[in-house]
Amino acid sequence: MTTTSEHPAPPHLKPPTIGAGFLYHCSPEFARLYQELVACGGRIDFVEYLATHFGSDVEYVAEVNAGLGNPPSTLHCYEYMIGSVDRPDAATVAKLQRMVEAANCQYIGEHVGMMGTTEQYSGTFLQPFGTDEQTETFIRNLREVKEQAGCALTIENQSQVYNRIGPRSICEQVRDIAVGADVGILLSLSNFIIAERFVPMDREREIAAIPLEYVWQVHLPLGNAAQLNDPDLGLDWRRAEQRWANETLVQLFKEPSFKPVSVVFEIEDAGTPSHATPEELRDALEWARELLGEDTKVEVR
Ligand SMILES: [Fe+2]
Repeated sequence: MTTTSEHPAPPHLKPPTIGAGFLYHCSPEFARLYQELVACGGRIDFVEYLATHFGSDVEYVAEVNAGLGNPPSTLHCYEYMIGSVDRPDAATVAKLQRMVEAANCQYIGEHVGMMGTTEQYSGTFLQPFGTDEQTETFIRNLREVKEQAGCALTIENQSQVYNRIGPRSICEQVRDIAVGADVGILLSLSNFIIAERFVPMDREREIAAIPLEYVWQVHLPLGNAAQLNDPDLGLDWRRAEQRWANETLVQLFKEPSFKPVSVVFEIEDAGTPSHATPEELRDALEWARELLGEDTKVEVR
């Protein structure tokens, strides 16, 4: 795996290690899973919330976070629509600002995708052009959002990928935006897997384009092992993908410049009909903590 030592050290201030957590959908199913996780000896260092469809009600997110003991969080977001010339309306910005406060948010992760216009969301993450003009739009918007978000920002390689458009591949564009806007990177290994539905990417080449010292967070899937191994379900390919994600993360941690502050497991849409069991989640969180290599019971703001 190639390091990107040709990039200057990032001027941004990466926060201290936060630890391991999972993408928490504010639904009864997840509340139950969390209780079962604690009951079997598991713990989280933080949670990630969707700052969008499942979590558009700020007061509800605040209530959920209080119910979990007010842990730190990160917000998984696209509402700053950083690829668009149009900007989000004032009410959306105000909602996101309140959510940062209410959810004890350490930083927001915005998708490097095209969401639509101020009036109209596309309903999906469209692949941005890899052109200079498009890249500069992301950088300009991120510089502005950094001033208004009330917390730090990361950007995420997105999942909906078609053929390459313009001079930059997906991760080359992520690199140029992160360096240009001085923000962290949310490296989503899950999204490389999802991208297979569209156009498979040269994963080695894409990951090699990422300046590892900019990576703050990693996303990876966690499916239900019994179902991944059930021959009747035919999920061998999904099991191989999960193994790829795990092995890739282990390899990345061998790179001296790779020092993320958090790892997030995505258990919804992880390729199995049922969620990972609480015990699987507990063990995955412990494994991620070991990789992070710190006692993650650190003070966070
Ligand atoms: Fe995402």
